[in-house]
Amino acid sequence: MILQGKVAIITGAASGMGRAMCLRFAQEGASVAAVDVDRKGAEAVAKQVHDAGGEAMPFTCDVSQRDQVREAVAATVRRFGKLHLLVNNAGIYLKDDYLLEDLTEETWDKVMGVNLKGAFYFCRFAIPEIITCGGGAVVNIASTAALAGVDHPAYAASKGALLNMTRAVARQYAADNVRANVICPGSTDTAMSRNAAAFRQEATIPFPRMTSWILPRSGRPEEIASVAAFLASEEASYITAAVYPVDGGLTAI
Ligand SMILES: NC(=O)c1ccc[n+]([C@@H]2O[C@H](COP(=O)([O-])OP(=O)(O)OC[C@H]3O[C@@H](n4cnc5c(N)ncnc54)[C@H](O)[C@@H]3O)[C@@H](O)[C@H]2O)c1
Repeated sequence: MILQGKVAIITGAASGMGRAMCLRFAQEGASVAAVDVDRKGAEAVAKQVHDAGGEAMPFTCDVSQRDQVREAVAATVRRFGKLHLLVNNAGIYLKDDYLLEDLTEETWDKVMGVNLKGAFYFCRFAIPEIITCGGGAVVNIASTAALAGVDHPAYAASKGALLNMTRAVARQYAADNVRANVICPGSTDTAMSRNAAAFRQEATIPFPRMTSWILPRSGRPEEIASVAAFLASEEASYITAAVYPVDGGLTAI
């Protein structure tokens, strides 16, 4: 129970890694605000947490909308009376974000809005509450796209920027006892990776070749959740501004 008594906001909670993180954080003793634009999905994960004996509040919020984010943070503090942990996990990976020459401004803004601005808004509104509670931790979910070249220019830019924004957050709040770290997942078996595989096939975009140095399977959402729980906990009390690839060795090139 490495998160006993803590309160966490987890975005993108309705699916994949976010759902796995809600379940794991609750299992470790945290109360969780399960935030997602998908209302039914957020309610379903909150119910799953309750059924497993944990505490969770579903909250519907588009992370790219400032006022909704402000309200999500305020509602969490109203419900649980405190806030210690923030996981910025909500993300999108769009079919239209492939060739730069076809990439529209609308798609660019959409990807940046969810993957980057959403994390900025949550940091902006949640960190003051975390400081009031004596400190805590931020875990941002970037991607190996932040570490190595990939296609999908907007996605790659958003994740690279998220990684470096995290370092700025870590630097600025170290004195307030707020740590901030980044996880860079590799290919992980979720709705996002399955959809991406489908549209790559449809567009006859070659799959990235699996090579001998990579563990010969996709990651599981629970394998990202366990690293997130560790980084959020006091087990990682001297770790801040760090970047954790959880990618089966993909970036060992
Ligand atoms: N799956 C992978 O292979 C992989 C690899 C590297 C990084 N990632 C990153 O991991 C994170 C989680 O991805 P996943 O694979 O679990 O994806 P997923 O599609 O299974 O889940 C993403 C969740 O984010 C929510 N979401 C989307 N837009 C939102 C918005 N505007 N506001 C609030 N919620 C929103 C969705 O409703 C969904 O529940 C993402 O940031 C993604 O970029 C995924």
